[in-house]
Amino acid sequence: MTLEKQIARARSRVERYIKAYFDVTHFSDPTLQEAMLYSLTIGGKRLRPFLVYATGELYGANENDLDVLAVAIECIHTYSLIHDDLPAMDDDDLRRGRATCHIEFDEATAILAGDALQTLAFELISNHQFSVPNSQVIKMLQTLTKATGFLGMAGGQAMDIAATGKSISLEQLETIHSLKTGALLVAAIELGALCSNDVSNEDLQLLRKYGKKIGLAFQVQDDILDIVGDTSVLGKPQGSDLELAKSTYPAHLGIAGAKAFAEQLVKQSIDALNSMSKQSESLTQLAHFIVERDH
Ligand code: IPE
Ligand code: IPE
Ligand code: MG
Ligand code: MG
Ligand code: MG
Repeated sequence: MTLEKQIARARSRVERYIKAYFDVTHFSDPTLQEAMLYSLTIGGKRLRPFLVYATGELYGANENDLDVLAVAIECIHTYSLIHDDLPAMDDDDLRRGRATCHIEFDEATAILAGDALQTLAFELISNHQFSVPNSQVIKMLQTLTKATGFLGMAGGQAMDIAATGKSISLEQLETIHSLKTGALLVAAIELGALCSNDVSNEDLQLLRKYGKKIGLAFQVQDDILDIVGDTSVLGKPQGSDLELAKSTYPAHLGIAGAKAFAEQLVKQSIDALNSMSKQSESLTQLAHFIVERDH
């Protein structure tokens, strides 16, 4: 199956699950429900779900278990985007090709939709009967909480805000990007692996290394697209980083330097994959896609 088809398959599984959940779950506040569903379903590449499936399937994981983790991580990611777009943060009005949550609804609703999507992720995992032992499920929760919270995405976002308009070192920039974006991408891979009892410690270490490299490359390419991309293709405003004087890789290395760095990271990620006991064509293709993508 081509990468495109596999991503489309991940997308359709996740979207079917979300629809089924929201069809049978009745919220006390219909506006909050509408805002959560709006942000979850207006689009998105669904790369984190793809990583959950690609890794889990490599080790024979149960598909229903993978569905829950794929949806959970997409809930966390969508929450991070809703809050990232708020006036107090990046103040953007376009996301996934549509009005951002606070523009479509209002700021209070957007904050609450983000909060509720975050807890929904943990609710889905803790309510599901996984086919691996509960000790493994605790590890999933630990993985996702760490990647989401102050040691992960939220911590990286705080450092990103603090670094705005300032001059920081390349090392600090790498930490910010690895936390705000890389952590959740690594977590997606780890969650897929935790759905199987067959992943050796060696493979897990190599998968983490792969995740770290593509996670950083992903945000470097995101920074590049903010300059060279097209708003209608990106589905979010081109030039947002420049307008806010964000610390980015192109600002440090220039476009060509940032591109070369991203390509070097992809090469390192593929080296890690090639050392694993199992070979994954989909994870290899995804690494290339991350730096070749235009949105
Ligand atoms: C955007 O992530 C935010 C970053 C972490 C760079 P994606 O580019 O994966 O956004 P969607 O899910 O496709 O909208
Ligand atoms: C945000 O990075 C990463 C998140 C945790 C959401 P950006 O601010 O660069 O993401 P975009 O460009 O708005 O998608
Ligand atoms: Mg941001
Ligand atoms: Mg942003
Ligand atoms: Mg960006």
